[in-house]
Amino acid sequence: MSHVMNTYARQPVAFVRGEGVWLWDEQGRKYLDALAGIAVCTLGYNHPKLTRALTARIASGVMHTSNLWRIPDQEAAADRVAAITGLDEVFFCNSGLEATEASIKVARKYGHDRGIAEPAIIVMEKAFHGRSLATLSATGSRKVQAGFEPLVQGFVRVPLNDLDAVRQIAEHNKNIAAVMVEPIQGEGGINVSRLDYLRGLKDICERQQWLFVSDEVQCGLGRTGKWFVYQHAGFQPDVVALAKGLASGVPVGACVTGGRAKGVFKPGNHGSTFGGNPLAMTAVVTTIDTVKEEGLLDNAARVGNLILSSLRNEFKDQVSDIRGMGLMIGVELDRPCAELVKQALDAGLVINVTADSVIRLLPPLVMSEAEGRQVVERLVPLVRAFLDKRAAA
Ligand SMILES: Cc1ncc(COP(=O)(O)O)c(C=O)c1O
Repeated sequence: MSHVMNTYARQPVAFVRGEGVWLWDEQGRKYLDALAGIAVCTLGYNHPKLTRALTARIASGVMHTSNLWRIPDQEAAADRVAAITGLDEVFFCNSGLEATEASIKVARKYGHDRGIAEPAIIVMEKAFHGRSLATLSATGSRKVQAGFEPLVQGFVRVPLNDLDAVRQIAEHNKNIAAVMVEPIQGEGGINVSRLDYLRGLKDICERQQWLFVSDEVQCGLGRTGKWFVYQHAGFQPDVVALAKGLASGVPVGACVTGGRAKGVFKPGNHGSTFGGNPLAMTAVVTTIDTVKEEGLLDNAARVGNLILSSLRNEFKDQVSDIRGMGLMIGVELDRPCAELVKQALDAGLVINVTADSVIRLLPPLVMSEAEGRQVVERLVPLVRAFLDKRAAA
């Protein structure tokens, strides 16, 4: 019996080697990876620049020092993150939930600084922000919350893409300090915010002096063809939560502040032992520099469009919906389809199914057009067979 705590329904496969967008299992079988460890491995596997930089950092003997001292790698990484987000201050942590938890704390502190005794945050139905008590309370999924009540107070939930719902709250609830939105909901099923909705939300935040918090843990870092989804909408949020793709596989999160949120955290307000350590920061610097040097934003847009349009072309109206932006794509079927994950593995393709019936593709940003075509070629027959079998049953 395994001593690993039983919190995941795992597939019986172990990947032991990787190169580019390809993985090999213990038996030497080769797989095309269209998931990137759930939007983490931005540069794919064994990228020479990242492998070299991390190896050199380890060989220096200094993987960790402490936030009691200056950390030059952290300063360099913060400069990079400030430049790509357009914001000012970066707090480094180690995961997505820590980034969203810190963002929630910033929003509450901002509310208190403005004299709101019990600040509240508007959050969205079907959003996922993490599994700590505050972040699961912010998450719009009863499945994630069940069994962990009492929930943390101070969240008001509205449907995504519904500005009227937010306007109504603005009229009646004077405790609101912030809105937190995942511009493209990942776990919730690749639900894409309309850009005019995001702009409308930002306008309300401006008028009400609320913080706009963008949780780009999954959709950010170049996946959609720009560094962040809010850049497609053409404005700056006050807070951005980052993790996953930020360091291409080394655990890192970041809470980034600017605008009204700049300066809200003061010394002593927040901390993390590991956060921003030299090893992780080397991975951040190298990931961001490599995305720039190799034109991976354009690549994500180009290969993403190719996959999206090919899937739309193949399936026409046979599936419920195909949606996404860049290399963040969801194919919604009319029934639960978790079994497709195993069938895809058998066909040498790594995918995921989320929200029961949405096939989720989040490939590494280094995927080529030829590899993108192979994703489509491997996926289409599986989905066809799945739908035909069910139609016949
Ligand atoms: C949008 C979003 N926010 C937060 C999180 C939590 O990240 P982590 O699992 O690293 O805690 C996730 C994870 O899937 C996510 O997709």
